[in-house]
Amino acid sequence: MLRVQRAQQISGTVRVPGDKSISHRAVMFGALAEGTTTIEGFLPGADCLSTISCFRRMGIEIEQEGDKVVVHGKGWYGLQEPSQHLDVGNSGTTIRLMAGILATQPFHSVMEGDESIAKRPMRRVIGPLRQMGAKIDGRKDGEFTPLSIRGGNLAAISYQSPVASAQVKSAILLAGLQASGVTSVSEPQLSRDHTERMLEAFGVKLVRDGLTVSVEGGQTLKGRAIQVPGDISSAAFLIAAVMMVPGSSLVIENVGMNPSRTGILDVVKMMGGQIELLNERVVNEEPIADLKVTHSQLNGVEIGGEIIPRLIDEIPVIAAMATQANGRTIIRDAQELKVKETDRIATVVSELSKLGANITPTEDGMIIEGPTPLRGAVIDSLGDHRIGMAMAIAGLAAEGETFVENDEAILVSFPGFPEVLQSICR
Ligand code: S3P
Repeated sequence: MLRVQRAQQISGTVRVPGDKSISHRAVMFGALAEGTTTIEGFLPGADCLSTISCFRRMGIEIEQEGDKVVVHGKGWYGLQEPSQHLDVGNSGTTIRLMAGILATQPFHSVMEGDESIAKRPMRRVIGPLRQMGAKIDGRKDGEFTPLSIRGGNLAAISYQSPVASAQVKSAILLAGLQASGVTSVSEPQLSRDHTERMLEAFGVKLVRDGLTVSVEGGQTLKGRAIQVPGDISSAAFLIAAVMMVPGSSLVIENVGMNPSRTGILDVVKMMGGQIELLNERVVNEEPIADLKVTHSQLNGVEIGGEIIPRLIDEIPVIAAMATQANGRTIIRDAQELKVKETDRIATVVSELSKLGANITPTEDGMIIEGPTPLRGAVIDSLGDHRIGMAMAIAGLAAEGETFVENDEAILVSFPGFPEVLQSICR
């Protein structure tokens, strides 16, 4: 159980662990590439370790020590038919992107994960992959795990995705790399584009035109060195802590600034917070900066539309932050929250309410009235890393002590979270 006390002030200079989305992709693309891929700044969180273990089960040699990884790629068809099920743990990115990869492989494989994964929708990726010719099945006609896949002989499709999902887009593009013809995916709003950027870094040609990405089949990847920036989704917890504790300021170094991920910075600024970008640079096609974050009293804000995919994973902590802002915060168009690691509309509302927040769920988001004095309570992560961390951050602004049960979920994306908090709280 994680114990959090009210903070008097947040200050210092810190780094956050590597970006989860980029770490997954570096391992996957490295495994499919010809030659060696070295990864620095890898996130050794449970989700990305699940990706490593799946590729090891398909015969790929991967060395990992902390945030350093070496992947000995064997080319696209160097994967071996796994003799055991592939366990994706809690990781939606692993199962959905791997579905696209396994759809190209001329063998049989079965993927399954934990209780949360068993409830998450899979037909959004299975549907288009079946259209391309992959044989995929799962419970409820492929909606739920375990998924069994026999791939190979794919034909290109032009797919209009009903959701702005990088996992859906990536699965189809990966399958498209080995399909005959040109595969294209269009999405209703831009979702994170790490797949596009990293595929280009691995030597793939793709065409991006507004909300549509196209790839031609039959392309190969070349192994390379990848440096993973710090995860802005992890930095978001520390930014929120600064905004919730008066008198605070913090420098967070080496944070990924991909514009498809920076909605949190826009929202904090719209609410009246100060964030300065220092040392801006680009590494492996991904923009990076150091963030200087300074406390200000925030005002409520309305969030909806195209910004939602750019901050979808940050909504739990935005809700926590909004409890301390002046006035009403409305979050809408965020129905995707219902199909994350937990139903995050329900779990954010239930857990923040325990701390005394004035928060109401809606069909596609939530409404928070602030500022409300929070009081320490016993909170449950409910097995969701971002719920556990958002509540711990709220606890920094709560009177007394807050206890987060099932805090081991935090290891999914932010190993060392308690230690980082400890180091910046005065
Ligand atoms: C991710 C995409 C997003 C995000 C998830 C990671 C990725 O999910 O919520 O944490 O790495 O592609 P969706 O594609 O379902 O929106």
